Formats: sequence, C-alpha cells, structure tokens
Amino acid sequence: MPRIAYVNGRYVTHSSAMVHIEDRGYQFADGVYEVCEIRHGYIVDLTRHLNRLDRSLGELRIAWPMSRNALTQVIRETLRRNRVRNGLFYMQVTRGVARRDHVFPAEGTLPSLVITAKSTDPSIIAKKNATGIKAITVPDNRWDRVDIKSVGLLPNAMARQQAKEAGAQEAIYVDAKGMVKEGAATNVWMVDRGGTLITRPAEHGILRGITRTTLIDVGAKLGLTIEEREFSVAEMLAAREVFITAATSICFPVVAIDGQSIANGHPGSISQKIREAFFDVAEKIAI
Ligand code: PDD
Repeated sequence: MPRIAYVNGRYVTHSSAMVHIEDRGYQFADGVYEVCEIRHGYIVDLTRHLNRLDRSLGELRIAWPMSRNALTQVIRETLRRNRVRNGLFYMQVTRGVARRDHVFPAEGTLPSLVITAKSTDPSIIAKKNATGIKAITVPDNRWDRVDIKSVGLLPNAMARQQAKEAGAQEAIYVDAKGMVKEGAATNVWMVDRGGTLITRPAEHGILRGITRTTLIDVGAKLGLTIEEREFSVAEMLAAREVFITAATSICFPVVAIDGQSIANGHPGSISQKIREAFFDVAEKIAI
C-alpha cells in the first residue's frame, strides 16, 4: 500500500507529493507545524494540538488554511488512507506561495497545508523506555520565540546531530544562567530526592508541549507534587529521575547526561507510572 500525503487540497502518493519552490516555508521557514500521536486507532490530544496551532498561526499572522472542522476531517482521512493505528501525523501550514520577498505576500495569498501520516512500531518505543536514553547539554542558540511551533528548526537539527555524534539521543538546551530549558524536540523534567516533579515554566523560553500539559494532569491524578520552576544543570544531574516528553514518545527516561549517570543509571519508577497512566487522562478521538 503506497503512503498517501495531503498537499493543498489533494491526496497524492507520498513519493510524488510536492510544494512549489517559492513556498515561503521552503524559502523563509515561514510556517508552523504540529506532530500528534495516534494510539490504538485514536488521535491523542487533538484539541490541544489544534489550540496550539491556532496560537502559532495567530502569533505569525498566518491564516487558517480551512476551518477547524474541515482540518479535522482531512487529518482523519489522511490517517485512514495510510491505515495508521499506531504512529503519528505531521501537519504543516505555511504562509503560502509568492514571489520571493521578505515582506508578507499580498492579502489573499492562500496558506499551504501539508499533512503526512506514518505508522510506528510500539515495540521500539517500549525498548527505549526499558533502557532509557542518553542526553548531552548544549547552549541555547535559538531565537527568542521558541514558544511558537515554527518550522525553523535548524538549531534543533544541529543539536540533535551533535547529540548523535556524542552517542546520545537528545540535546538539552541550557540558558546563559546554567538553567535547563528543553530538549531539541522534547520538554525536560526532573524528579527531586523528595519525589517532586519539576519542569520549567512554559510562559517564555520553551515550547509549551502538549504532552507536558497533559502530563501535569496525569501527575495531579496520581497525587504527585508538581512544581513549575526553573532548575539548574547541577540539580538535574543530582536528580532521582530525569525524563523527556513529546507527542512522539510520551516520555523517555534519561539515564545519563554528558556522560554522567542519573541516580543509579536505570529508568526510574515515576516516569514509568506516568507513562502507564497517560492514555487514561489524555483526550482520545477515534480516527
Ligand atoms: N517536537 N520542545 C520542542 C522544541 C519540541 O520540538 C517539541 C515537540 C516539544 C514537545 O512538545 P509536544 O509534547 O507537544 O510534542 C518540546 C515534535 C514532536 C517534533 O518536532 O517532532
């Protein structure tokens, strides 16, 4: 069965899916995106993902490509055509196609919409959860508006590559004061010695992850104490547990950072509990 992508009004085979060379996403990274998890035939936390899309579009003054209801139908149809039961969809909206010019194109230029879907193997994620992942820390060299889920991800790609070359799977951004920000494509959490869950506030300087938001609900349901506050690299290295969250993976335990083991170097129990409870709390919409 060929993979199918949705591109500007048409369902096309993935291998022949194309956008114009003067799409502003291609030329200026002038667009936003969402990645949303599909689990057992359900779209996870779609409402929150669409709310964040709305915010990202609003901050950049890009119009919605179609109504929210129509977009939901196109997402479902793309998932159905690709027969995704476990996996994800990727959705990108750009300011559209126009002759190259830094200023915005003429009023009425249609935004571009691309949606792809893919199946993932849950056993690979389970394996990563069983062993945990390694991370490195890197100085944050991104622009100031990382609260917008923009497709301008070059620093993130460079940081992930640096992690890979260091034998790790994630790069954790650190600000000029030595405080932890977030991963190249994840939010970062730590559990202190007293069992309190700590993550950086999302008002500024990080992306407000959807998984992060739902995980706060999960923590509350499990009766865990949660603190949204900044924490330093030193605090993180001395933590009982560290884990990262993203829609693609819920949460992965981090067992070593910059070559130093976290606690005993094995995944902790709190991230596991959270992972197990996650889908009971998250919103699930049938495809
Ligand atoms: N990344 N921080 C950054 C910089 C991210 O890119 C992401 C997600 C997150 C977690 O957000 P959420 O829980 O909503 O997935 C935090 C996606 C998965 C990506 O770029 O592929």
